[in-house]
Amino acid sequence: MATLLPPVRGRHAVAGEWVAPRDDFPSRSPANLAEVVGTFPNATQDEANWAVAAARTAYPAWRRTSRILRAECFDRLAQLIKRDTDALAHLMARECGKNFTECRAEVIEGLHMVQYVFGSGRTATGEILASEIAEKDAFVRRKPWGVVAVVTPWNFPFAVPLWMLGPSLVEGNTCVFKPSEETPAVGQRLVELFVEAGFPPGTINLVHGDGGAGEALVRNPGVNVVCFTGSYEVGKRIQEISAGFPDRIVAAEMGSKSAVIVCEDARFDLAVSAGIISAFKTAGQRCVSAGRLIVHESLIDRYAAAFVETAKRLRFGDPLDPHNFAGPLIHRAAVEKVLSYNALAKQEGATVLLDGGAIQPIPGATGCFLSPFVYRQEAKPGVRTVREEVFGPHVALIPFRDDEEAVRIYNDTDYGLSMAVVTESYRRMRFFRDECEYGMGYVNLPCIGAEVHLPFGGVKKSGNGHPSAAALVDAVTHKTAWTVNHGTEIRMAQGLSTDIDGGPV
Ligand code: UN1
Repeated sequence: MATLLPPVRGRHAVAGEWVAPRDDFPSRSPANLAEVVGTFPNATQDEANWAVAAARTAYPAWRRTSRILRAECFDRLAQLIKRDTDALAHLMARECGKNFTECRAEVIEGLHMVQYVFGSGRTATGEILASEIAEKDAFVRRKPWGVVAVVTPWNFPFAVPLWMLGPSLVEGNTCVFKPSEETPAVGQRLVELFVEAGFPPGTINLVHGDGGAGEALVRNPGVNVVCFTGSYEVGKRIQEISAGFPDRIVAAEMGSKSAVIVCEDARFDLAVSAGIISAFKTAGQRCVSAGRLIVHESLIDRYAAAFVETAKRLRFGDPLDPHNFAGPLIHRAAVEKVLSYNALAKQEGATVLLDGGAIQPIPGATGCFLSPFVYRQEAKPGVRTVREEVFGPHVALIPFRDDEEAVRIYNDTDYGLSMAVVTESYRRMRFFRDECEYGMGYVNLPCIGAEVHLPFGGVKKSGNGHPSAAALVDAVTHKTAWTVNHGTEIRMAQGLSTDIDGGPV
């Protein structure tokens, strides 16, 4: 373990000022619960309102700033992220427990978003279309909504906020950011970098806190857009509260029960690797993590044997040791939840193939480590563990007989975020592409690993049609039609008469 560093003093940032620190709640390292990464204030309704007011005050000047100058702030931010990549990954590994190599990849993913946003400063902000009337020019122009609240999860505490803050800010909105109460130190460090990059005061404001602080933001009528990633329950609540505001947009990315489908013609080793990476990277705590491996019956026994052999070799341990495959779960409650799903799988008649249980791999430290739980379950109605999100190293192997059945099994959940199919057949691939319900689909790959220029979102309980990352631009702007007449008289479309006095008698 690293030598203990001094705890971060948590502060809100409002209108360019760092508010006096408060220690309402601690952020602890899940790999070593005795290690306090920092202490943080829990925002009150007044503090949330204050941050929204600051964003609203900063909005007109920011909106009027040249789009290219707004984008150039992101070039400076990119340089700072490059400078601090390892330090950011280190802080993230301590605070959220992901392995250092994964944390580094996440910082790079955030950097890619920032670079994308910088580049987008010089790209089109709309379209030019024809009018029926030759003298008219018609434009479709994107306009910012105003103030965007960004409410983000702990498992991607750097990249996911940037997926939201990047498109929002470059389009001319101002933001209030509330990082997860599990990863406030990473959130605060990100805002420090924004400030250092020279974003004007009030364009990005930070409030810390739990669900109550998030709700205080969502209840503020000055918020035009809420960008949220997290659980279905919280996303639903945000949408319910937001329904009370006339033009509130909510972009919500919520849970999943993602899957890898392994066909009979799959490349075997690739299929095993795809399953392992999908199920166990981030200890199964990605929203795109596979909770299900749907495997053709002709190879499921061989697949199960190879999968379990590989899963046994995975090293779950100190996040700061890059040789480990994955770290702990985020907190004790997460461990309890996954263990209860492991127990439920047994009650529901699963054949358990691997059950390592809770472990303590770091000498002298108490952490929230759990090793893989792998089981075989038949496709049958009413089995909760293969339909509900578990968010941990818990994965079912489910046999299928033909492609239609694989699709039925895959779709038999309330979620629809990501899927992968392992096959050498282009016909099969196309069938799964068209019949499965998902937002991100992969062929001969794991069902994790999205990139920032692609839409990131889902269907059913996984998302509400506003994908994140580059595609978020559609949620944080609204499209306007702008029509200009270059003629000296008024001529109307659809042959509409312009006679005012009823025309010649
Ligand atoms: C998430 O799990 O919330 O696709 C985000 C991936 C990453 C992002 C995951 N690029 O696995």
